[in-house]
Amino acid sequence: METGPWTLWGREYDSPLMLASGTAGFGLELMEMGMLAGVAAVVSKATTLLPRDGNVPPRIVETRYGLLNSVGLANPGVEEVLASVLPAASRLPVPLIVNVAGDTVEDYASVVERLDSSPVPVGYEINVSCPNVSAGGAAFGASPSTVEEVSRLVAAATRRPFSVKLTPNEGSMVESAAAAEEGGASAVTVCNTFLGMTVDWRTGEAPLKRGVGGYSSPALLPLTVARVHLTRRAVGIPVLASGGVGSPEDVLELLAAGATMVQVGTWLMRRPGAALELLEGVRELLDGLRGFPDGTGT
Ligand code: SIN
Repeated sequence: METGPWTLWGREYDSPLMLASGTAGFGLELMEMGMLAGVAAVVSKATTLLPRDGNVPPRIVETRYGLLNSVGLANPGVEEVLASVLPAASRLPVPLIVNVAGDTVEDYASVVERLDSSPVPVGYEINVSCPNVSAGGAAFGASPSTVEEVSRLVAAATRRPFSVKLTPNEGSMVESAAAAEEGGASAVTVCNTFLGMTVDWRTGEAPLKRGVGGYSSPALLPLTVARVHLTRRAVGIPVLASGGVGSPEDVLELLAAGATMVQVGTWLMRRPGAALELLEGVRELLDGLRGFPDGTGT
């Protein structure tokens, strides 16, 4: 397990924590509030070729143990992101990785090509796993051959590194991870949210207009640990863990399972300053481990 500094794509970080896509926009509000301490890098909300209004509200529903979202990739489109969001994001104190989504396999490379005209993104996260859209999304991620094709097109469109964010909901994640590597991806993100639903038992109605949405919760940790472990064995590129973090122990568990970096999302919504708390906890636990004479903590 990496015990720090943590290295991704040739950059060294003194934190293994990244902000998961969709949980902090482009990180601008957290920056204004001085709450990016402890964060190694921000992964932005998805950017698409054209602006998207997203799904009909409500788009977020809190459940007893976690969060269901059905945002539908709402974003202003790549031209607006280039014109006004990225210039503001150039003030971020940490690197920005832009999450990219598409309706067609060609969209991803087109968006990446446009984003490459800005010096701000250090890399991309290719979102072939959104559970909340009818075109593309998880349907792409479920097919290893489509994942490979998207990866090849993106690799041909940019010299910057990119991670492919995989779906746990359809197909074989491990096969899709191998396909991403084959296509030229520089990492895989394991993984997007799990398809979930909540129903009001009194009315039989689902609060989300689409019924189902993407579920995230610290309770998902063992599901992510298993997927990180299995993916780690299948690919040589970095595995970025995403899903299930609610404590410093969770971060270390994902690193021990084979993650290179760990993304934090839902937990941050509950506690916007959570990254620093998590990092301090991680350091304390690692210091304790190093305190044992043989360095193993046993
Ligand atoms: C959404 O915008 O619906 C969520 C994005 C995702 O899960 O990829």
